[in-house]
Amino acid sequence: GEPAPYSPTGRHTGNPPQSRAQDGPYLTTAQGARLPDTDHSLKAGPRGPVLLQDHHLREKIMHFDHERIPERVVHARGAGAHGVFQAYGTAEGVTKAAFLRKGAETPVFVRFSTVLGSRGSADTVRDTRGFATKFYTEEGVFDLVGNNIPVFFIQDAIKFPDVIHAGKPHPDREIPQAQSAHDTFWDFVSLHTEAQHHTMWNMSDRGIPRSYRTMEGFGVHTFRLVDAAGATTLVKFHWKPKLGVHSQLWEEAQITGGVDPDFHRRDLADAIEAGAYPQWELGIQTFPDTPEQTFEGIDLLDPTKIVPEELAPVQPIGLLTLNRNPSNFFAETEQVAFHVGHLVPGIDVTDDPLLAGRLFSYLDTQITRLAGPNFNQLPINRPHAPVNDMLRDGFHQQAVHSGVAPYKPNSLDGGCPFFAGADTGAYIETPVEVPAARKVREAPASFDDHFSQARLFWLSMSPVEREHIITAYTFELGKCYDNAVKERQLQALANIDSELCARVAEGLGLPAPEPTQPPADVMPSPALSQVGQEWPAD
Ligand code: HEM
Repeated sequence: GEPAPYSPTGRHTGNPPQSRAQDGPYLTTAQGARLPDTDHSLKAGPRGPVLLQDHHLREKIMHFDHERIPERVVHARGAGAHGVFQAYGTAEGVTKAAFLRKGAETPVFVRFSTVLGSRGSADTVRDTRGFATKFYTEEGVFDLVGNNIPVFFIQDAIKFPDVIHAGKPHPDREIPQAQSAHDTFWDFVSLHTEAQHHTMWNMSDRGIPRSYRTMEGFGVHTFRLVDAAGATTLVKFHWKPKLGVHSQLWEEAQITGGVDPDFHRRDLADAIEAGAYPQWELGIQTFPDTPEQTFEGIDLLDPTKIVPEELAPVQPIGLLTLNRNPSNFFAETEQVAFHVGHLVPGIDVTDDPLLAGRLFSYLDTQITRLAGPNFNQLPINRPHAPVNDMLRDGFHQQAVHSGVAPYKPNSLDGGCPFFAGADTGAYIETPVEVPAARKVREAPASFDDHFSQARLFWLSMSPVEREHIITAYTFELGKCYDNAVKERQLQALANIDSELCARVAEGLGLPAPEPTQPPADVMPSPALSQVGQEWPAD
């Protein structure tokens, strides 16, 4: 049969198995006292006042009153599924991660999401999509917390509150949702032009996927893989859907959004229930780990840049199959807590300044969202590896730990040694050289190039895809009230491509500005039209 997703007792010692099955011959209170009736409050006579002493009434309503937890500050709207990841073994040459060894099978939980809408918003809006995967490996949890767009709006995490404040619904009326009709969004991206590349992907068909099953996923940042001998390789992670990449037309997205706001969530659950298990191949682009951390002149620490696939082909390293729907949305999809810092030996982070901020942000927000520091004990978040941490107490502690509170060094407990070496499978941060430096609030000069890859993306599009992009910019900018915002965004488009700018300007009834800098020299080869497209047929 199906393996249990988690044991009823989990990793904790001392607790009797918790039976919260909610079935049995009689109802009880939360304390286990049998109930005669749950339909009537206790009253002084059938028409008299309700009595404060009715504990069952108060307990039932109190619990109901607290059923909701805060939604995620971003990516609030999501859908999840369980599955398995099977490694091909093709990454063994670059990483010692056990779950990437040939034949290894690892249980996973994946959560897809939109970014800007609230928990109850529609699925098919124009937005970036989250693609977050939790691998329950034998060496601990590894989370790959990615998006369906390979670049991001900002190069430094300190700008994250700004981009999200500009993109979320207006605080006065809580409209609009997502990126339509949004002066603040276009104000931000036209002033902060490093956002132009990501914005172009949003305005393309990638912003309105047909289904979660037909989306690519990207780790975005460059990560560092480490092999058993300590040799390192820089990589970018890619998920390639076996069904290929498909989008909706804008008109379709309007209809599906109206007729069925749960369009993507329903599609995912129905497919899995019908046995049409969605699959993605995980792949890596690999780059030599040089001190410059660039590849073919592209700064690998700049999350607004891709490396075109014909410069660094994506090499498949494993297969993800989603084969089981959650049995409880709240317990699984809502309570799952991903973190870019959940790493296993063989996978390490780089100094991408966006990634650095994420390493702080997820843990921090989850302390509020999941009410305290013990959310790793929630069934969906429990590692499938043995846990022997030194953490104690706190809100919602589920374990009954025994013995003195742990401290190290310790000569009395006869327990495990203080340090676990590499030969014990410990996670050891890669000893990367950090050059002597001054403390500065500055970005490297290479981060100043904001337009060349937006132009590369535009030039790699087919004629019909270009029409969609022009229509999307015209429609979305047409919802701005402030002409100065539209004009500033047209200026950014002029610096990307004069035809794109002219067509959008015409649609808006505004003059097309001249570029303020010459267009980047990125005329792509025919092969560049493959940038970010679907996996070649096998
Ligand atoms: C949530 C991806 C940048 C803060 C998420 C989720 C994804 C994601 C997929 C949803 C996780 C889930 O399903 O539970 C990304 C990607 C980024 C990025 C790919 C850039 C490459 C950032 C940055 C910050 C940030 C820069 C903050 C500095 C958050 C927060 C959440 C979140 C606070 C909510 C987490 C929770 O409540 O559990 N992100 N994100 N993200 N992200 Fe990001």
